[in-house]
Amino acid sequence: MDGPSGSGKSSASKGVARALGLRYLDTGAMYRAMTWWMLDQGVPVTDAGQVAARVAEPVIEVGTDPAAPTIAVDGVDVSGPIRTREVTNAVSAVSSVPAVRQRMVALQREVIGAGGIVVEGRDIGTVVVPDAPVKVFLTASEDARAQRRARDLTDDPAATVQVTLAEQARRDRLDSTRTASPLAKAADAHEIDSTDLDLDEVVAEVLRLAKESSL
Ligand code: DC
Repeated sequence: MDGPSGSGKSSASKGVARALGLRYLDTGAMYRAMTWWMLDQGVPVTDAGQVAARVAEPVIEVGTDPAAPTIAVDGVDVSGPIRTREVTNAVSAVSSVPAVRQRMVALQREVIGAGGIVVEGRDIGTVVVPDAPVKVFLTASEDARAQRRARDLTDDPAATVQVTLAEQARRDRLDSTRTASPLAKAADAHEIDSTDLDLDEVVAEVLRLAKESSL
C-alpha cells in the first residue's frame, strides 16, 4: 500500500493485516529510524555524502505484529522519538539518499520474505515488491490529510492544521520529485481516494480487492 502522508495508510494497512491474519510492515518507520539515528549522531542530514557514509552503522529491527508493531535502533525502542516533528521534517532528505534506500529496500525484502504481509510506504508497488499480488495507492485531499495529521500531533501545540499543511506539502513535494524511487502509483495499483471514506470503508474496499485476487 503506497500513498502520501496522511492518506490513512497506516491504519488501513494494519486493519487489513489483522482482518486477514497477515504480518504488517511500516517502511516509513524504518526511514524515520534511520533519520532519528543520523540526527542523534549529529550527522548533517542535508549532506547526502555524510549520510551515505554512515548508512551501514545503525542496526534497525522491526516487529511485524499489526496489533503491536515495534521499531528499534541498536536495541533501543524508538517508536516514540521517530514521530517527532524534528524527525518528520528531516526524513525526506535522508530518504532521498540512494545508499539509504538501497539498505532499507534490502532490509525490507528480508522481512517480507515469502510474503503473507501488508507493507506500507511510497515505493512498495513500484520498487520493493513489483510482483505484489494486490497493490493499493491510497490518496486523500490535501486538507483531509493535514487535518488527520494535526489530530495525531495533539501533544505538539505548534502543529496547527495550517503549519501541518505547509510541512506536509513540502514533504510530499520532496518525496514525489526525488530521483531515487519517488512516491508513485504503480501502473497496476488500485487507487482508493479516502477523502470521504472512514477507516472501516477503506479496509472493506481493500479486503474486497484482496478477495478478487483470491488471497
Ligand atoms: O509514512 P511516513 O510518513 O511515516 O514516512 C516517512 C518518510 O519516509 C516519508 O516522508 C518518505 C519516506 N519513505 C520513503 O521514502 N519510502 C517508503 N517506502 C516509506 C517512507
